[in-house]
Amino acid sequence: MGMSEELTAQFRQANPSLPKKAGLPANKKQILHGLSGFAKPGQLMAVMGASGSGKTSLLNVLGQRLGLSPGSTMTGEVRCNNRKLSKNDFGAFGGFVQ
Ligand SMILES: Nc1ncnc2c1ncn2[C@@H]1O[C@H](COP(=O)(O)OP(=O)(O)OP(=O)(O)O)[C@@H](O)[C@H]1O
Ligand SMILES: [Mg+2]
Repeated sequence: MGMSEELTAQFRQANPSLPKKAGLPANKKQILHGLSGFAKPGQLMAVMGASGSGKTSLLNVLGQRLGLSPGSTMTGEVRCNNRKLSKNDFGAFGGFVQ
């Protein structure tokens, strides 16, 4: 995820829920539980954790990519320079490379 030098990104209580895979009950599975943090401008940040710990899910939340998993939802908020991101704001200043 790229950030220009002037931007500070924050996330609070980011709680994405994804639909369970086919064949499982229709209720949702909460993937991340109450994560908060921030990324400062001009610094490289690494997100580390065991496989399945939620790194990709967190980056999908920060990059407003939850729509790629139909039926997924998130509570909490993502802010940039203290302004709450609206739908699809991320693309105006950020990039996601996989
Ligand atoms: N679309 C989905 N439906 C149901 N569960 C999912 C879905 N995507 C991810 N999960 C679950 O969410 C948890 C976190 O997955 P995630 O892919 O974010 O982990 P990760 O840290 O990126 O793992 P890895 O290091 O293997 O890439 C795992 O238990 C995974 O099975
Ligand atoms: Mg991953």
